[in-house]
Amino acid sequence: MTPLRPVPAPVTVGILGGGQLGRMLALAGVPLGIRCLVLEPAAHAPAGAAAEVLPAPYDDRGALEELARRCSVVTIEVEHVPVESLAWLADRLPVHPSPEVVAVGQDRLAEKRRLARLGIPTAPWADAGELEHGFPAGTILKLSTGGFDGRGQARLEPSASGAEVAAALEALGGSAVAEEVVAFDRELSIVAARSPVGEMAVYPVVENRHADGILRESIAPAPGLSPSLQDEAVRLVVDLMDELGHVGVMALELFEVDGALLANELAPRVHNSGHWTIEGAVTSQFEQHLRAICGLPLGDTGIRGPAAMMNVIGTEAEPGDVLAVPGAHLHRYGKEPRPHRKIGHITVVGADERQRVERLATVRAVVGRAEVRPASSP
Ligand SMILES: Nc1ncnc2c1ncn2[C@@H]1O[C@H](COP(=O)(O)OP(=O)(O)OP(=O)(O)O)[C@@H](O)[C@H]1O
Ligand SMILES: [Mg+2]
Repeated sequence: MTPLRPVPAPVTVGILGGGQLGRMLALAGVPLGIRCLVLEPAAHAPAGAAAEVLPAPYDDRGALEELARRCSVVTIEVEHVPVESLAWLADRLPVHPSPEVVAVGQDRLAEKRRLARLGIPTAPWADAGELEHGFPAGTILKLSTGGFDGRGQARLEPSASGAEVAAALEALGGSAVAEEVVAFDRELSIVAARSPVGEMAVYPVVENRHADGILRESIAPAPGLSPSLQDEAVRLVVDLMDELGHVGVMALELFEVDGALLANELAPRVHNSGHWTIEGAVTSQFEQHLRAICGLPLGDTGIRGPAAMMNVIGTEAEPGDVLAVPGAHLHRYGKEPRPHRKIGHITVVGADERQRVERLATVRAVVGRAEVRPASSP
């Protein structure tokens, strides 16, 4: 008779941030016996539905001590957490992504420098404080830290004068990256994961449609993408994760321009453009991230069928109307509706591309949303 093996102790994962990404991470942990303990300063954390929440600031020593005492590993669901808190935790237990990688991800100038060092192509850029005049095709100023969903950005006319650049920078109120406006054909992203021993798992490239700087829809896999661009995107994200020694999920946002790829930005965490994987892929990005940071084998990133994800922004449709659409899945984040705020998402998976298109069109009609066309200018 084989001797009984001791049951492994339940794992507790600490998460800095208790938004919808934390909520979906915690939900993915339940079937695996992984519990999540969330540190979140704001009241009514969406993650509270699926995890225990420590309601405290990110630099609260007592709360950090509790995380260190109770967790096996700590991760993040937002980049904008103090690196010092992560470094304090990293002296005591594994922290994935590492404080160094989070520091790169939360500082656009550092990120651009790192991409340049790795030879990963981006739009022409400069430190906005050193720019003598705007780029010929127009300039986007992006605050170096703190921006998201297109906030903390300013657009300038083609070849704006030095005085105009300086005034816009002053209005933004912090150091910023200046980027040339790219006339892209479409936006893409690639989500991938790396384990502590360097195992990699990569999802298919998806197409992302934005309006007003906010992601509206992701289509997976990106329709009509050439195999060479898919391979190129995989190479970029794999190089990036290897180079950074990243552990966990990482997303790389890309522009497709004239048959080539430019990197826009990276996120060392689960990503909005990967939400479709919950129903559309064999392993969701959330389970994948937990597997990676807990040192478990990575899961199959294959698709179950062509999928699309639509963000619910600002206001919600009647849940029953959404659920009446065949093959639609509704994810509500438990957040107060507010203009421009992501409060949920809807995923459809089709048996084939035609059904995916049909189902997405029905969801758009139910939600009262027009199709978003790829566009490089707002
Ligand atoms: N250089 C550029 N040229 C053209 N469009 C751009 C450029 N940079 C950004 N954009 C547009 O603005 C959107 C938001 O920019 P970016 O991803 O840098 O900001 P963000 O606030 O971090 O967004 P998020 O957090 O939602 O990813 C992009 O998805 C793209 O639509
Ligand atoms: Mg972005």
